[in-house]
Amino acid sequence: MLGIIGAMEIEVQALYERMTDVEIQTVAGMEFHKGVLEGLEVVAVRSGIGKVNAGICSQILVDRYQVNAIVNTGVAGSLKKEINIGDIVLSTVAVQHDVDAGGFGYPAGEIPQMGIKEFPADETLLELARACCKEANPDIQIFTGRVASGDQFIDSKEKKQWIHDTFDACCTEMEGAAIAQAAYLNHVPYLIIRAISDKADDSAHMDYGEFEAKAAEHSVKLVTAMAKRLSA
Ligand code: ADE
Repeated sequence: MLGIIGAMEIEVQALYERMTDVEIQTVAGMEFHKGVLEGLEVVAVRSGIGKVNAGICSQILVDRYQVNAIVNTGVAGSLKKEINIGDIVLSTVAVQHDVDAGGFGYPAGEIPQMGIKEFPADETLLELARACCKEANPDIQIFTGRVASGDQFIDSKEKKQWIHDTFDACCTEMEGAAIAQAAYLNHVPYLIIRAISDKADDSAHMDYGEFEAKAAEHSVKLVTAMAKRLSA
């Protein structure tokens, strides 16, 4: 069973529409849609925004649905010049840019006493996503790299620059690393798939409103193509 998490309705609605044999269960205020996507058994769910929601949602997927992998679909702000609105970023690792225990000597992003700063994504899922990209979204660029998550919408040049320079991340969003951490703790493979809705700078709010839906669609198309391959 594949778990698919999107934070917002716009990130999961198109998946729900493509699923058959759907059973819905509400847990912790989240609607878990269990069903079949392109022949593959999946549970798709809107977690709500932010790391706490995403972490809780991931744990429910593991405990109640025994998922053997989790994919996070959604939108993100780009942190690099060459990564444009509409392009897709696939995670190699995920890190939390808002974790700061520097006073105890920990580097930015490292959670004290966990012994790990970046949670590695699953290479098989990453390769599968790469292989499906051309077919799913032939006209857009695909990037692979670090995803930096935090409970902040990034909309200033200074903050964007800091996250980029501190973590060498490709994009920023608000859930991926929480899913990654939950996946790590439960020994479940994961992958973050994010399409760029804005550039995380002073124009982020405007761009986000304009491009959110299109970007979300790119990510959903890729997840759907992956489900098709996995069920084959
Ligand atoms: N999701 C999409 N754009 C974002 C941004 N600029 N900051 C945080 N999360 C986002």
